[in-house]
Amino acid sequence: MSDEAVYPVTDHFRNKALVDRDTYESMYQRSIEDPEGFWAEQAKRLDWIKPFSRVKDVSFARNDVHIRWFDDGTLNAAANCIDRHLEQRSGQPAIIWEPDEEGGENRVITYGELHREVSKLANGLKSLGVRKGDIVTLYMPMVPEAAYAMLACARIGAIHSVVFGGFSPEALSGRIDDGGSRVVITSDEAKRGGKTVPLKQNVDEAVSLCRESKVESVITLKHTGADVSFDANRDCWYHELVGKQSEDCPVEEMNAEDTLFVLYTSGSTGKPKGVVHTTGGYLLHTAITHEYVFDYRPGEVFWCSADVGWITGHSYVVYGPLANGGTTMMFEGVPNYPDVGRLSRIIDKYKVATFYTAPTAIRSLMAEGDKPVAGADLSSLKLLGTVGEPINPEAWRWFHQKFGKGQCPIVDTWWQTETGGILISPLPGATDLKPGSATKPFFGVKPALMDAEGNELEGATSGGLVLKDSWPGQMRTILHNHDRFVETYFSTYEGAYFTGDGARRDEDGYYWITGRVDDVLNVSGHRMGTAEVESALVAHDAVAEAAVVGCPHEIKGQGIYVYVTLNQDSSPSDELAKELKQWVRKEIGPIATPDVIQWADGLPKTRSGKIMRRILRKIASDEFDQLGDTSTLADPNVVDDLIEGHRVAA
Ligand code: WTA
Repeated sequence: MSDEAVYPVTDHFRNKALVDRDTYESMYQRSIEDPEGFWAEQAKRLDWIKPFSRVKDVSFARNDVHIRWFDDGTLNAAANCIDRHLEQRSGQPAIIWEPDEEGGENRVITYGELHREVSKLANGLKSLGVRKGDIVTLYMPMVPEAAYAMLACARIGAIHSVVFGGFSPEALSGRIDDGGSRVVITSDEAKRGGKTVPLKQNVDEAVSLCRESKVESVITLKHTGADVSFDANRDCWYHELVGKQSEDCPVEEMNAEDTLFVLYTSGSTGKPKGVVHTTGGYLLHTAITHEYVFDYRPGEVFWCSADVGWITGHSYVVYGPLANGGTTMMFEGVPNYPDVGRLSRIIDKYKVATFYTAPTAIRSLMAEGDKPVAGADLSSLKLLGTVGEPINPEAWRWFHQKFGKGQCPIVDTWWQTETGGILISPLPGATDLKPGSATKPFFGVKPALMDAEGNELEGATSGGLVLKDSWPGQMRTILHNHDRFVETYFSTYEGAYFTGDGARRDEDGYYWITGRVDDVLNVSGHRMGTAEVESALVAHDAVAEAAVVGCPHEIKGQGIYVYVTLNQDSSPSDELAKELKQWVRKEIGPIATPDVIQWADGLPKTRSGKIMRRILRKIASDEFDQLGDTSTLADPNVVDDLIEGHRVAA
């Protein structure tokens, strides 16, 4: 072991874990040497309608990228997440829901109830004409009905496209259009931290902005009871729709490679892309990682604090835990409402065994000292987890000490919307921990580090992180755009999937993710494309040109730093800066709100007119001594002006 602080496997996990050190080594070896055998065996954890005979049919070759797993088998994801558990667990809680308002009425949904609710909604969707292969857009609060809606789609073979409730009407309409959805499921309002978000109103606006899709039905859940406008030809209430339906809805037989869902995520260029995940591989991957990474045992309460609008919510609030017959927590609110002790009180209230959250939440609580855990018992916790961005060792130790009482391991899980589930992570019974490292690859995962010339690097080193072979949960394509899929992920390095992340590997073979090496920002663990923010900005009348980069931010990890060149007839002012921030917020959503706006008369461009972002990133990060070669700029003088402007803006 190298000299970094190491936290060895704890006694609790050493004796009792599902996977100990030796088992990890032997299972990992097997998964790499004989992936077909390994995954064929693991696939038995799902219930298949028709068993598969082929395990894997994959090519990463640039001229023929295809990824297929179990492609002659059939199954249904909802049946795997609900029906097959009924015999043993119909009375066991499947979902525990805690409302935004502390002390408000909570809900405990058993597997029996989940089965009834999902079946009725599935029949309701059918009654509106939804058929196998149709894309249904969900724009929902963090309430059980969001999970019902996902599973109802899966039950009848419809494809869900969940859009995070924090996205603007503009962003929502783009996603409805791209998916060609005719049906949208939403709620009157969402609640977060005592505030409300007008979801139905946003849907109305989004539908009117749609250029391609003709939305025929909007199903609205009555959640806060707010007055909302209602179009009798198009709208129906959720409770009225399901009220008239039978509780019996046979499941649709789906091919393993039929699409389960589409989820939009930001890339380094262009509009967000619709990431396509399929039924068999995705479900297997979320189930196996949920069991082994979290050492999950049925009966335990598992709490992943992500919103279902993100991949983490899909995989570890809904599909993974439910595929394993688990009890999953859903929390509608935020960590600091009504005060910063909320999360620890929820852990005590429901005896949560595993708490899986984002470094940005941990950092915001850490800033409050002991308050977030004051008076809390937290003895139900056995394991902690993080996801979404690199965790700084200081935040890791604080989480470990305050929430974990020094007893609970932290699994720092690296993965992406594209990977479907966790790919690099400790296993609590097998891996000694180093704060800040995602440690070792999961079964079947072959990471490698590459240099700029495309050569694989050996030993302790840093480079671009690629995956050399497929895993079942891998995305299959970008909706309507396989060429962009190939271009984005398989053209940087021949024959490998490029993650867009950089990483370091240490002497012990541990991976340390250093962050995105492309133009994707990671703001509070949420992905944001610089190109998206730029195109929102240039849509404003006053803006001639904009360049967006990330800057270090104590709580968010990365902040959004914007360089703006104004049109000739506009001049800089604090009001205009405020207006531009509001503008981006409205165009994309609150998560895209710029942190800093710097006025720039000129941007650093090469003689061919390309903006050199490297320089802008360094200036935004106060690293003036690391600007590198600026001699190739068309006008090297802009750099001094920008540095001066940065001192004013920051
Ligand atoms: C980053 C979230 C460091 C990474 C599941 C990745 C991480 C992007 C970690 C994907 C981690 C995620 N350590 N960085 N444990 N987990 N990331 O698609 O840059 O929202 O490429 O998926 O988050 O974000 P996405």
